[in-house]
Amino acid sequence: MNDPDTVAADSAQGIPTLEFEGTTPYEDYVHASVLTHLQQPYSDDPGEMAFLVTTQVMELWFTLLVHEWRTARDALYKDDTERAMDALRRSLTSHQALNDSWRPIAALTPVQFNAYRTALGEASGFQSAMYRQVEFLLGDKSLSLLQPHKGHPRVHAELAAALAEPSLYDAVLEHLHRQGLPVPQEVLHRDVTQRYTAHPGVEEVWRQVYAGPQHSPLVALGEVLTDIGELVWRWRSDHLLATRRAMGAKAGSGGSPGVAWLEKRATRSVFPELWTARSHV
Ligand code: HEM
Repeated sequence: MNDPDTVAADSAQGIPTLEFEGTTPYEDYVHASVLTHLQQPYSDDPGEMAFLVTTQVMELWFTLLVHEWRTARDALYKDDTERAMDALRRSLTSHQALNDSWRPIAALTPVQFNAYRTALGEASGFQSAMYRQVEFLLGDKSLSLLQPHKGHPRVHAELAAALAEPSLYDAVLEHLHRQGLPVPQEVLHRDVTQRYTAHPGVEEVWRQVYAGPQHSPLVALGEVLTDIGELVWRWRSDHLLATRRAMGAKAGSGGSPGVAWLEKRATRSVFPELWTARSHV
């Protein structure tokens, strides 16, 4: 059964290849044996695995979003809107999958969560470096949030680079400027290491875009960004709800007041003028 001729014959009969010189090509590509051995629960509670795997899956979705939004940002700097729109549209389905990933842990009771909560110690999603990259690309920059990562030089260096780079929204606004829209100079020359704050001049730009032809590429760009803003808002809201169900008003493992802190974080607007401009169209 193991000689190559038999295998080739099997293959000819429509049976998948069974013999490989070393590891399978699937393993070489996917690194599945690494990925499926990265689960090291801290407690004996059988429910912890769902929490850990969900968190790891979300980290992978964050990684994909960062990839797509960087692709879109870099394409927008070249005014390659086709490539940018492709990446932004792909990111919508990935973000939806990220949001759907809440399911396994969306409705934990306090007793279920308590079964492994203490074992997690001070570990908190607040310390997720990839989530910070997500937020930085959305324009929510913060130098102080690099601090938790100073003990991990590679991660810290990646975040420092992300802080210094323009966000996706910075690239969008420069693109709008090159399309002849009156994006204020102070916005175009802003310090990109700082958190983006809403500007009335940018609100006016989006008002003009939305008041114009409805099938223009710029309305399509505005809408895909609005979809992203909505999906981010929904992820944050679902996180808040899952937290409220699992631990009520207890303090967070990362040292914050918990739900009260997350509530404030969840109200932050993504691409703010895309929402406020609508009042004036
Ligand atoms: C029932 C499960 C969860 C609970 C009870 C919970 C609770 C919390 C709390 C209380 C905080 C505030 C910081 C702190 O003091 O710890 C927080 C932050 C955070 N959590 Fe969770 N979390 C849960 C699941 C997750 C999952 C699966 C992820 C995915 C990676 C995640 C990602 C985050 C992120 C990124 C932050 C920081 C948010 C920000 O900076 O605005 N959480 N979480």
